[in-house]
Amino acid sequence: MLNPAALLEAVRRDFHGLDTRYPDAQGVARRRHYLDSAATTLMMGAANAVAQRYLAHYGSPHTSAHHAAQAAGATLDWARAAVLRFLSAPETDYACVFHGSGATAVLNRAARLLGRLRPERRVVLASLMEHHSNDLPHRSHGAQVRHVRLCPISGCIDLDDLERHLIAAPGQVNYVALTAASNVTGVVNPLAAAAELAHRHGALLVVDAAQAAAHMPLVLDGHDHRPDVLALSGHKIYAPGSPGVLVARRSLLQAAGPDEIGGGVVDDVGLDHYTLRADVPEREQAGTPDVLGALTLASALDVLGAIGMERIAAHEVLLLRQGQERLAQVPGVRLYGADASAARISCLSFNLANLPHALVATVLNDHYGIAVRSGCFCAHPYVAALLRDELFDLDVAGLDEAGIEQALAPRRGMVRASVGIYTEADDMEALADALADIGRRRDARLAGYRVLPDGRYRHGSAAAPLCEPAALLGQYLQGLTEQAA
Ligand SMILES: Cc1ncc(COP(=O)(O)O)c(C=O)c1O
Repeated sequence: MLNPAALLEAVRRDFHGLDTRYPDAQGVARRRHYLDSAATTLMMGAANAVAQRYLAHYGSPHTSAHHAAQAAGATLDWARAAVLRFLSAPETDYACVFHGSGATAVLNRAARLLGRLRPERRVVLASLMEHHSNDLPHRSHGAQVRHVRLCPISGCIDLDDLERHLIAAPGQVNYVALTAASNVTGVVNPLAAAAELAHRHGALLVVDAAQAAAHMPLVLDGHDHRPDVLALSGHKIYAPGSPGVLVARRSLLQAAGPDEIGGGVVDDVGLDHYTLRADVPEREQAGTPDVLGALTLASALDVLGAIGMERIAAHEVLLLRQGQERLAQVPGVRLYGADASAARISCLSFNLANLPHALVATVLNDHYGIAVRSGCFCAHPYVAALLRDELFDLDVAGLDEAGIEQALAPRRGMVRASVGIYTEADDMEALADALADIGRRRDARLAGYRVLPDGRYRHGSAAAPLCEPAALLGQYLQGLTEQAA
């Protein structure tokens, strides 16, 4: 049995990309500080190693006569079981389906599935902090989405407002679509309480766990009110290249029938009829599944489970708290959601003085080797609400509408620094030091930038792209032919 604390320390240092170096604006190679894990995480060494070793046995799970095909089927079963184990989701209640390349595909599928299953319930309730991927699919697949307020004090979903919405639409709410944690502020939502309310009013709970899964425990067992559907995103759980994951109550999948059909999900097909397989989740997996991706993802989750999500959460929350304290001391930094009393994970969002967020993010990259994201993070209404007071404060007197828009555009957004299991205190220190330095040497640091038509900033001396697929392929083929010669 591996020691979880020792495993955490070993695994944290075993990620692809921790030593990546890029030239800064002066041409000096710097080790990158990767603070963009909320967008996509680096790849866990163990997950990649398992996938690479498995490749010697790669085959189709739709064949069964030979060894590799049997290995593929068993691997897929293991991967599904590992996902459920990670979530403490009893296999008797829940099934796991790999789908698409992230949570967006999965949430679209959930919207279609539940819309088909309960067409008489036309309303979906979504919180105001949702990522577009847990809002727009519900709108687009025919539901009338109503937005639930956030608590002014804790920052999480306002349960009283949720209940008001449920009462106001008796028998009409199909499900509540709620993120486990915000990808903008990291604020965590009370899932069990939301599930209890939803269920009391005959609604289901769909949880977008894309952001939360790598950072906090998500437990689908041991209490009465649990999510009915949950979406995970492989590239946010240290397994880039893996599929998204739909975890849903078996009873829902059984009743709704498969979303996609084709090979692999039928028992018998004639020219004028076909019979679907009866077993869930197998009959949900039309076509040849991404066994390699599923294995990569499940391996990453298994490692996280062996370390313990409580341990990981404690480690990262401490890091974020330290980062928050350091950023709060930097003159001109304004943190968002920092006053929330709810638990927070994953990220810190901020602005620096009155500088455009995109410029700050670019300067951090170009001069300090710090990779962050800026913008509205696919959560436009939430970011707009967080910025409302500041945008009101902007002096736009005397400007016409186009002028106001021009003044506001660079201010509509924030910079986000986000952590992963591999993030070091040193990464957060580097960020705080860099922001303080930009404040002190503002003119020098901001010189030489031009704005591109799409709003991004480009430094005059920006180097050519660093990692061109054609060049990588060319180098490989060159080596290969030299070896063969
Ligand atoms: C909370 C949340 N939901 C959904 C998504 C969409 O995930 P994907 O890009 O994997 O489809 C993201 C991605 O940033 C997210 O943070």
